[in-house]
Amino acid sequence: MDLSIIGSGYVGLVTGACFADVGHNVICVDNDAGKIEALQAGKIPIYEPGLEEVIHRNVSAHRLRFTGSVEEAVDNSQIVFIAVPTPQKPNGDVDLSFIEKVAREIAGVLKSYRVIVDKSTVPVKTGEKVAESIKRYNRHGAKFDVVSNPEFLREGCAISDLMHPDRIVIGAESEHAIDLMKKIYEPFMAPILVTDINSAELIKHAANSFLALKISYINAVSAICEASGADVEKVADGIGMDRRIGRNFLDAGIGYGGSCFPKDISAFITISEQLGVPFNLIKEVQRINVAQRERFLKTIREKLWVLRDKKIAVWGLTFKPDTDDLRSSVAVELVAEMLREGAQISAYDPKGMEKAREVKTMAGTKFTSSALEATDGAEALVIATEWDEFANVDLAMVKERMTTPIVFDGRNMFNPETMRQLGFHYHSIGRASVVPR
Ligand code: UGA
Repeated sequence: MDLSIIGSGYVGLVTGACFADVGHNVICVDNDAGKIEALQAGKIPIYEPGLEEVIHRNVSAHRLRFTGSVEEAVDNSQIVFIAVPTPQKPNGDVDLSFIEKVAREIAGVLKSYRVIVDKSTVPVKTGEKVAESIKRYNRHGAKFDVVSNPEFLREGCAISDLMHPDRIVIGAESEHAIDLMKKIYEPFMAPILVTDINSAELIKHAANSFLALKISYINAVSAICEASGADVEKVADGIGMDRRIGRNFLDAGIGYGGSCFPKDISAFITISEQLGVPFNLIKEVQRINVAQRERFLKTIREKLWVLRDKKIAVWGLTFKPDTDDLRSSVAVELVAEMLREGAQISAYDPKGMEKAREVKTMAGTKFTSSALEATDGAEALVIATEWDEFANVDLAMVKERMTTPIVFDGRNMFNPETMRQLGFHYHSIGRASVVPR
């Protein structure tokens, strides 16, 4: 099928590449001329495992191309996806101005029937507004249908999530649009759930906030574990073995970050309030998430006493492993806070260094070229993101390089007993701290 995707950011690019990979003809559009030029020259603006290869393969096969023209895209495709950012406003609300602008742009060049699909994460009832907008600016009076088709891909494993989805959600009112959408997704051989537009939009916010709830739940349990001497890993295994609960998203840590959960949780709270049914449970999820980071910082302060002039190594800056994304990264917030308190930070991240250098709140950080180098002369090591690479670092060497071997592991990467035997003072999340005998 002939498809176009307006917005070549994270979701747009990955979706476009995967649609092309299953045989559709895809045009990816962006209003950033520099980005389009780079993509045309074969440069991929984000790091996502496997993405570059899929893009190159499909560009060579002439199934995927890039343009700055919405008109060219709409003219040459049956279905037009909108995948533009929906950032958070300072009041927690969602900024839908990009969606509205694209809806107007599409309407202005719409000459015959098209299905317009919203893939961006939006609050419930946005589809209605998109349809109204297109109707209002529809110069040629062309027929169209609006569909909501939320994405559930995770950064770091986006290609696999897209190619092997648990489910496809299609929110639509017209049978014809539903048939076309089903045809697009036929090659993915995944269960398809057809709903009305509002339900599809709500599924996305409800899914993300439920996952965030699981994380905050286990993080709240981790505080109880620390206070009582229990082990949060064992508790997570024990409850996760119940198939009704499941072990996924029960890894205690320093809280969730990224470009999705924090923003979507705020948006869900706001829309529920606007609808007159405040979702207080999700407010608590948000509160626990902030408290978890504060608790971790409190442990660091308690053990180091004063942070001023302390040399602290930080491993991991991205909001999770296998991405170069630092947006709303808890690791970045931790570094910023420790810098504010006068600590000297040397940090290392396998993929996030380039972007990290541009983060203003981390100015003053010394960026090193390896995890080991970051620990040179350090008085403490903070593990903020659980990259595989860190599990393979020679810990005996780390201990040798550090001035005082104190580790604060915000992601429970290591076994406390092993750390004790290696001679570390080791503090992790929801597990008893250990000190060398
Ligand atoms: C999330 C959802 O998982 C996707 O299904 C959704 O499509 C996406 O948001 C989106 O809305 O676009 P993503 O933000 O890429 O995906 O990352 P996750 O793997 O969900 O992790 C989010 C945060 O939760 C990370 O900071 C991670 O470290 C944290 N996390 C995750 C935990 O602290 N514990 C866990 O057990 C799992």
